[in-house]
Amino acid sequence: MFDLYAVIGNPIAHSKSPFIHTIFAQQTHQAMQYTAILAPLDGFKKTVESFHLQGGKGLNVTVPFKLQAFQLATRLTERATIAQAVNTLKFEDNEILGDNTDGVGLVRDIELNLGISIAAKRILLIGAGGAAQGVILPLLQRKPAILAIANRTPQKAQMLQQQFLPFGNIIAGNYTSFSNKHFDIIINATSASLNNAMPEVPTDIFAPATLVYDMMYGNELSRFLKFAQEQGARQVADGIGMLVEQAAESFFLWRGVTPQTKPVITQLRSMNLKQDINK
Ligand code: ATR
Repeated sequence: MFDLYAVIGNPIAHSKSPFIHTIFAQQTHQAMQYTAILAPLDGFKKTVESFHLQGGKGLNVTVPFKLQAFQLATRLTERATIAQAVNTLKFEDNEILGDNTDGVGLVRDIELNLGISIAAKRILLIGAGGAAQGVILPLLQRKPAILAIANRTPQKAQMLQQQFLPFGNIIAGNYTSFSNKHFDIIINATSASLNNAMPEVPTDIFAPATLVYDMMYGNELSRFLKFAQEQGARQVADGIGMLVEQAAESFFLWRGVTPQTKPVITQLRSMNLKQDINK
């Protein structure tokens, strides 16, 4: 008997989650099966309920359903409550637990895989949509010197600043607000790379020692990472590590065992990957 899990989204065909969780299950000898489910745009709840009725134990949730998953959960972790988005559902006896492992995935990739500690660092987060919102609390919990949020539409960054003020040192603005400022870590959390576009940030935010991170991944470096390199940034990273680390945290929530992420990251890097973000 296998326990059933899946990733649910729309579109979902290119998701790497079935590959990742199948390797995790083999590594840790868990009797489970993990598939991908395409839910109709107007049929998320029904699709989740039918998966649960078939004996499903848990789901990863991706675009565009993270807010609906947040609303569907009957119990939430603190990090999901604060992110107002759920990427992991666990079916318990009488409850549906909603969690958000995206932020911890990003933090672990930066700290454990890339070896850069966040404490006391100056961080620039670009973007103020769901992807940005999901990582703010875990970043602040690592006690950076400052977390600056820059967005094309600055009002959205300012709303996030207000929401997260109680949790740490956070400022907000548009791209030019942070011109000529020094940052240790710059993170692109916009969806621009999905359209082969990039946030038009000032060139002077990049320094040789800045880690420049794009939550997006693909065969080639994103335009944003190439641009950062052209400005002299020596260390750039795409979102593959975050993808695998958030998956590992979901796996731990479901199964209570921690899989090894590094071999899976290496395997994914050798594959032909379509441009994508955290699925
Ligand atoms: P997600 O949930 O993936 O974060 P979202 O909530 O639609 O998606 O937010 C998209 C983010 O990417 C926003 O910060 C958006 O900026 P605006 O708030 O100004 O719209 C940003 N974004 C998308 N395309 C962009 C582009 N070409 N240049 C700059 N920012 C872009």
